[in-house]
Amino acid sequence: MIETKLYDLETDPFEASIAEAGKVIARGGIVVFPTETVYGLGADAMDEGAVAKIFEAKGRPGDNPLIVHVSDLAQVETLVKAVPEKAKRLAEAFWPGPLTLIMARSDRVPDRVTAGLSTVAVRYPSHPAARALIDAAGTPIAAPSANISGRPSPTKSTHVLEDMIGKVDAILIDADTEVGLESTVMDMTSEPPTMLRPGGITAGQIEAVIGKINLSPNITQNVIPEKAKSPGMKYKHYAPKGAMVIARGSDNEKAAKITSAIKGLPPDARPAILATDETMGLYRRGLIVSLGSRDDPESMSHNLFARLREFDAMGVTHIFAEEIAMSDATMALNNRMYKAAGYTFI
Ligand code: TXA
Ligand code: MG
Repeated sequence: MIETKLYDLETDPFEASIAEAGKVIARGGIVVFPTETVYGLGADAMDEGAVAKIFEAKGRPGDNPLIVHVSDLAQVETLVKAVPEKAKRLAEAFWPGPLTLIMARSDRVPDRVTAGLSTVAVRYPSHPAARALIDAAGTPIAAPSANISGRPSPTKSTHVLEDMIGKVDAILIDADTEVGLESTVMDMTSEPPTMLRPGGITAGQIEAVIGKINLSPNITQNVIPEKAKSPGMKYKHYAPKGAMVIARGSDNEKAAKITSAIKGLPPDARPAILATDETMGLYRRGLIVSLGSRDDPESMSHNLFARLREFDAMGVTHIFAEEIAMSDATMALNNRMYKAAGYTFI
């Protein structure tokens, strides 16, 4: 256990809190901070020893590389060999924002950050506190999501406190994160560029700027990838404690499948149903929870990880989620739901 300093950005003086947290990073400490996607757990990206502490606090496998966060474009130049033309166009369109670009790395980036890969993932977040922290630290910040490895990413300060108190030097407490799912990860070293992880920026938005992209097989094939380009893809992610399955078919078919599965559970099971505003009324058994309205994919995305953590807190043993119709706007949401369910469908 280490002593964790808490700074509440909504009530404590903002500048002073950021300045203190920036010093912690500059001295080789680790700090949880809000971003527009999910909370991150940051360290000085150029300090191997500091970065090692992130892996330890999260229990993250060392072969899963980190995203390096910057607060201006000049910092990007120090991290990469060159910024490819299409990366420049994406940066101009979507930075600062929920997009991560993978490029050939410069020799200055420690191996610990990239897990020895020849590439580095770079993101310029839009959240004011994230940008101010990077400025205050005076260095790019390497940061994964601030959850214990394997748990749903933190979108509320309560999630961060649950997972990280006693493991990190400081936590910047803030409002719920806006997007609620992690950034989109684009590999800019392939031609056409390849989406490795769908996220806050959609494939449609990206193609509108740079034309055709590839989708990594781990996005298009609904199976656990054996050998994935993005090393993080091979780990079970976003997993709630309860066994989760996704029901497919028409609304009535989904409801019938879920209802009959729940009937077959032992009496001590605590089943929950993750439905939508439009379909909640189709159920009579189990804890019935809405992810949000189908007309509002952004809010369903915003809610997902918090719902999964609520199920954990309530001791839910079985989660039955309705499949959400696939579209450009729901690709990231579906990807996280499939992963949370370990690609188990009924
Ligand atoms: O929204 C986000 O991206 C959040 C916030 C904190 O910025 N961060 C985040 O980091 O989600 P993390 O570590 O949970 O996910 C990073 C993903 C992993 O799947 C990792 O394997 C992949 O990016 N990644 C990082 N560097 C890579 C590289 N050089 N090549 C391929 N994949 C890489
Ligand atoms: Mg993560």
